[in-house]
Amino acid sequence: MNVLVTGGTGYIGSHICVELIQAGHQVIVIDDFSNSKPEVLQYIKDITGKEVKFYEFNVLDEVKTKSVFKENHIDSIIHCAAFKAVGESVEKPIEYYTNNLMTTLIVAKMMKKYHVNNIVFSSSATVYGDPEVVPLTEDCHLGDTTNPYGASKAMMERILTDVQHACPDMSVTLLRYFNPIGAHQSGLLGEDPKGIPNNLMPYIMKVATGELPCLGVFGNDYDTPDGTGVRDYIHVVDLAKGHVLAIEKYNTPGVHITNLGTGKGYSVLELVHAFEKVNGVKINYEIKPRRAGDIATCYADPSKAKKELGWQATHNIEDMCRDTWNFAKTHLK
Ligand code: WQD
Repeated sequence: MNVLVTGGTGYIGSHICVELIQAGHQVIVIDDFSNSKPEVLQYIKDITGKEVKFYEFNVLDEVKTKSVFKENHIDSIIHCAAFKAVGESVEKPIEYYTNNLMTTLIVAKMMKKYHVNNIVFSSSATVYGDPEVVPLTEDCHLGDTTNPYGASKAMMERILTDVQHACPDMSVTLLRYFNPIGAHQSGLLGEDPKGIPNNLMPYIMKVATGELPCLGVFGNDYDTPDGTGVRDYIHVVDLAKGHVLAIEKYNTPGVHITNLGTGKGYSVLELVHAFEKVNGVKINYEIKPRRAGDIATCYADPSKAKKELGWQATHNIEDMCRDTWNFAKTHLK
C-alpha cells in the first residue's frame, strides 16, 4: 500500500517508516523537522535500502498538503504529526491546540476530498486522564485530561470519530500509545529531542552521556510502590510494528480503538536503576516537586491488540534501556 506518514521523520514516525518499508509498503512523508532532523531520511534509507517520498512542510499549510494528496495515490494515512510533551503543553496551550487540532482537521478534509478511507491516528494513553482503575482497557472512561496535550489528543480522537460517522466508508483507527522509549537496534534512529528533553528516557540518556548533569525526579510522594510515577514503557519498534498491523488489518469501515502497551508498569526509579544496571552507567538524580499535569499510575491492558491484531510487545525494559544507550553511543557525538 501507499502510506502517507505525517510527522514521519520524528522519533515514532521514523520507526514506523522503517517497519512499513520492511513490510513491503511504499511510504510518503510530510514533516517540517520541528522535532526531528533531516539526516533521519538517510538513516531510514541506510536501514531499509529504500527512500521515502518526502515533502518538507507543516501540515498546517493546507495548500501544500492538498498538493500531496493530488500528486500521490494514497491508500492509508498514519497521522503522527503533533506536539507531544505533557509538561510543555501546560505552558503552551495555544500552540498545542492550534497545531494538533488544525493538522488533524486538514488531514480529515483531504481524506474526504480524495476518498482516502483509512487512517491510523497516533493517540495517547493521556486521553484516559487520571485513571480510576488500572490496567486500562479501551472502554475505560475517558477521564478529565490533566493537560492540553492529552486534551488535544482526546479532541483529535473526537474529530476523527465524528468524521467517520459522516463518512461511513472510512476506517478510523485510534492507537493509544503508552510510553514509547528505546531505539532501533541499528543505533541510527532514536529519540533525540531538540533542547532539554521533556520526557524521562531521553533525559536519562543525556545524563548518561554527560550532556546534562542530573535527572530531576518529579515527585516521590505518589501513591506508588516507591512514590515515583509509574508508566507502561513500550519499545518504539514494538509500537511501530503495531501500526503496520493496524493499517493491514483494520481496513473495515468503522472506528477501531486499541491500546499499545506492554501491560506492565515501571516507576521512574525502577527505570533509572534498570538503565544503570543494563548499561553499567550511573545516573545522578534528585527528587524535585511534582510536575503540573502528571498522574501517579498508568499502564495498559493490551489484550485487545493481541486478539484483533495478533500484536503484542516483544521487547522488555532491559532491551529498551540497552537500545537507548546504543543509540546514544553510536549516534550522538
Ligand atoms: C514519565 C514519568 C514523570 C521527566 C508521555 C509523553 C506523551 C505520551 C504519553 C505518547 C512521569 C517522570 C519525566 C523527567 C521525571 N506519549 N519524569 N523527570 O508524561 O507519562 O507522557 O507518554 O503519545 O507524549 O509525554 O511521559 O516521559 O514525560 O514522564 O521524573 O525529567 O517520568 O513525572 O512520572 P508522560 P514522561
